[in-house]
Amino acid sequence: MSDTYRAAICTALTGPASLHVEEMVAKPLQAGEVRIDVKAAGLNFPDLLMTYGKYQFRPEPPFTPGLEIAGIVSEISPDVTAYSIGDRVMGGSKGNGFAEQAVLPETAIRPLPAALSFAEGACWHGAAITAWHALNDKAMLQQGESILILGASGGVGMAAVKLAKHKGATVIATGSNDQKRNSIKQAGADHSLDPADPELAAKVKVLTDGNGVDVVFDPVGGDLAMKATRSISWGGRYLIVGFASGDIPSFPANHALIKGYSLIGLRAGESARRDPELARNSEVALRKLAEQGVMRPHISHRFSLEDAADALRILEDRKVIGRVVIDMTL
Ligand SMILES: NC(=O)c1ccc[n+]([C@@H]2O[C@H](COP(=O)([O-])OP(=O)(O)OC[C@H]3O[C@@H](n4cnc5c(N)ncnc54)[C@H](OP(=O)(O)O)[C@@H]3O)[C@@H](O)[C@H]2O)c1
Repeated sequence: MSDTYRAAICTALTGPASLHVEEMVAKPLQAGEVRIDVKAAGLNFPDLLMTYGKYQFRPEPPFTPGLEIAGIVSEISPDVTAYSIGDRVMGGSKGNGFAEQAVLPETAIRPLPAALSFAEGACWHGAAITAWHALNDKAMLQQGESILILGASGGVGMAAVKLAKHKGATVIATGSNDQKRNSIKQAGADHSLDPADPELAAKVKVLTDGNGVDVVFDPVGGDLAMKATRSISWGGRYLIVGFASGDIPSFPANHALIKGYSLIGLRAGESARRDPELARNSEVALRKLAEQGVMRPHISHRFSLEDAADALRILEDRKVIGRVVIDMTL
């Protein structure tokens, strides 16, 4: 383990441009902690929001973004028994991932399945657990049902496409250009549509024999959410996952009443904190999926730590397909 390491620091809440790489001094481990030689950090939309101070968790600068990492254990505190130096692991926390070293409690890391590379492991769990919680615990999506997945070229959207297919659903998904729609189809979607198409709801109806979809998975919000409610079936389930568009929709209560559909909010991380037993069971099931390589992320861009700001910018510019990763070996 090295006494110093480099980290990308957010120095002001002005967005990606405020990120600077600085030399840091490694701190001694506390009880229960594990030091990880980070090989890759996966970017998530909240990393971008945090650089503007617009995420629900609002760290004050200076701070290091980065919710998810994968790497090799380089040091353990004496009371840690579950991990050894040299283990391949993936882990998550509320930040500090855009760095060559990360210190996490042992409870926040898990072994990296052999099926996943460091880059894949660094962007697997957050999206996978969100898709899992949404489709299983909240929507209870069944084999043979239909689902409309918005923002399907994004991190959580593409994980949802893969999980919904794995569960035997008919998947209709949106992507805002040809390249994104092709990738969504490659990820397993049966049909891909343009979210800007004014006929979106009518096309979804045609694809579902006039019924509309049983479930909508919405990490985008804004005007697209209003369009999507018009494509939901009688008694359908509308999953409110996030607001990547930046606009929080106001759903018309009378429309939900007339069509008898349910609006279901979800927070995968908070659910795990409030219901540890459900979280444990989900982890066991997710572990099996990870070992089988299910929901393996598509990584469209890799950047060095020096270029962490550019990595956030392409997320902001909607250029990412699947995931973007900071690769510490570049
Ligand atoms: N509820 C939870 O537990 C939970 C967990 C994780 C993430 N989230 C939330 O889910 C949302 C998506 O996260 P993500 O990691 O999948 O993000 P992402 O990888 O950036 O994907 C977001 C997708 O939304 C679409 N989009 C539409 N308007 C956009 C805009 N103005 N800017 C950026 N993207 C836009 C894009 O697809 P098109 O170009 O095809 O439109 C993009 O692929 C975020 O709001 C995040 O906070 C919620």
